[in-house]
Amino acid sequence: MYNDKIMDHFQNPRNAGDLKDADGVGTVGNPSCGDVMTLYIKVKDDRIAEIKFKTFGCGAAIASSSFTTELVKGKTIDEALQFTRNDVADGLGGLPPIKMHCSNLALDALKAAIEDYQSKQAKN
Ligand code: FES
Repeated sequence: MYNDKIMDHFQNPRNAGDLKDADGVGTVGNPSCGDVMTLYIKVKDDRIAEIKFKTFGCGAAIASSSFTTELVKGKTIDEALQFTRNDVADGLGGLPPIKMHCSNLALDALKAAIEDYQSKQAKN
């Protein structure tokens, strides 16, 4: 059901875990299945210097989280915000249609983490 790239990210997830001193944290849930994904970012000189994820979800959700962390690590905040949900699905070589909602979680969690970072910055 999943292609080799998805299986690789699922079986060898990159940047799994959390960041205790994260600058931004974003958690999103998938109402259709109840799965939850959290992304943690550390920002240095306006770039995503570190990123980690914790995903309690299906294989597609875990692979999408892993792929997204690789996609945006080292990118500026503006560059990271340019990515779309399709960039994740296409970058993984396509997902089965019933799994598209799982891959959407990763970009939503990233945007939530960036929003959290930006709102903390605005308060400082
Ligand atoms: Fe829940 Fe994929 S089935 S995120």
